Amino acid sequence: MSSYPTPILTTDRLTLRPLTMPDAADLFAVFADPLVVRYWSAEPWTSVSFAETAIRQALDAYRDGSEVRFGIELADTGVLAGTVNLHHFFPQNRRCEIGYALASAYWGKGYATEALEAALDYGFHELRLNRVEADIDPRNAASAAVLERMGFRKEGYMPERWIVHGEMADTVNYGLLRSYWDARA
Ligand SMILES: CC(C)(COP(=O)(O)OP(=O)(O)OC[C@H]1O[C@@H](n2cnc3c(N)ncnc32)[C@H](O)[C@@H]1OP(=O)(O)O)[C@@H](O)C(=O)NCCC(=O)NCCS
Repeated sequence: MSSYPTPILTTDRLTLRPLTMPDAADLFAVFADPLVVRYWSAEPWTSVSFAETAIRQALDAYRDGSEVRFGIELADTGVLAGTVNLHHFFPQNRRCEIGYALASAYWGKGYATEALEAALDYGFHELRLNRVEADIDPRNAASAAVLERMGFRKEGYMPERWIVHGEMADTVNYGLLRSYWDARA
């Protein structure tokens, strides 16, 4: 079975690193915010126990190497501002999916761009992925902007794929190939 370790990656302003239990309060703050889960098929977290469960799942993933789950730490303050994950790996096809979220206080500062760049570079060059997929709500303009800046291309559209806060929601499928990534670099 393939193993996908979660290392520590550093960028100009961020440290991407494995989550640990002391991150629970910061992680809870990210996902308790209705703005952050506006386009997710899950309600905002209502207690820190949601964060503890998510961290326990991350610790399991670190042990079995089944997923890459980074906490995004701001280098200047040490605050855990969000997460970026590579998940649903298909080793035979060298492909996976990406997910990400930042606390709304930190939006619009280029942190998501910086974090995704590091995570994708790790995926393509260290994990030897050939393809990364993303599935976003068509109304999520900030997420689309970040993906398109990374070189993801729109590949498909699936109507009413999710129920988001009681409302049917569509999906735009994005894909990024290793060849696009290398051409972009
Ligand atoms: C998606 C997300 C991580 C982006 O974070 P961010 O800090 O805004 O990202 P960046 O600052 O790196 O870049 C954002 C880009 O989107 C643009 N943008 C931000 N909000 C926007 C909006 N409402 N409409 C259109 N564009 C928007 C910014 O202008 C910027 O592009 P530019 O540099 O070309 O101007 C953040 O909005 C988030 O955490 N959202 C909630 C979780 C989520 O939806 N995750 C993705 C689900 S798959």
